[in-house]
Amino acid sequence: MKKVMVLFLIMILAVGLLAACGETKDSNTGDKKTLVMATSADYAPFEYIESDKSDDIIGFDVDLAKAIAGKIGYEVEVKDMDFGGLIQSLKSGQADFVLAGMTPTEKRKKNVDFSDIYYTAQHMVISKKESGIATVEDLEGKTVGVQLGSIQEGKAEEINETVALKVENRNRIPELIQELKAGRFDAIIIEDTVAKGYLDKEADLTSFTISDDPEEAGSAIAFPKDSDLTEKFNQELQKMKENGELQELIVKWFGGEN
Ligand code: ARG
Repeated sequence: MKKVMVLFLIMILAVGLLAACGETKDSNTGDKKTLVMATSADYAPFEYIESDKSDDIIGFDVDLAKAIAGKIGYEVEVKDMDFGGLIQSLKSGQADFVLAGMTPTEKRKKNVDFSDIYYTAQHMVISKKESGIATVEDLEGKTVGVQLGSIQEGKAEEINETVALKVENRNRIPELIQELKAGRFDAIIIEDTVAKGYLDKEADLTSFTISDDPEEAGSAIAFPKDSDLTEKFNQELQKMKENGELQELIVKWFGGEN
């Protein structure tokens, strides 16, 4: 009789334990909602793949997305696509937000909403040292490569109004570098932080900065129009600016100054 009681108790305990395990497991994974971040992972150190190490998309924007989403109870799934398709991915509901070093331009604001700017940038013209290209005027008659749909494409077209040049676009930043090295482009325009990575490893390239207001080329997070995430993300971004967490990410990925 006693043995039966003990066995019975053990069974109850075991069932209880199992149920408890199930619960904790649930609240760790099952409960957490996932947000889809769309990006164009051709943009080190913002978002890129270190293909010799893994297929993961890493970078400043990925860390920033995970930090903010984590604070408001979400996990992040990163989707890679061409830069030119990012706005559409928000409009069609394929993504919850875009983090891609994207600049909040007036034109884009007609289709999507933006957070505040989290990092500023400037346009940089890169060419081969041997080309002798050192000023905007030197671009006269040259073929200038830019990323399709980027504000650098807009900049090249703007320059073309006063300095006649040929604007060519490509979907991905590495393609621009390749065309430049192959001599099919005389120069390319990309943002300074991304340019730096290439200038550091390609000794035959040189650059100069087009000095506009850095806010004008800065990066922000984009959301579908009227998403309730915009305000939530912006609040967390603001806190990260104040408590130094953003600066920590800047140091980690850009190595220092803002
Ligand atoms: N800041 C520029 C723009 O918004 C270029 C961004 C390119 N981003 C990228 N992940 N390739 O147009």
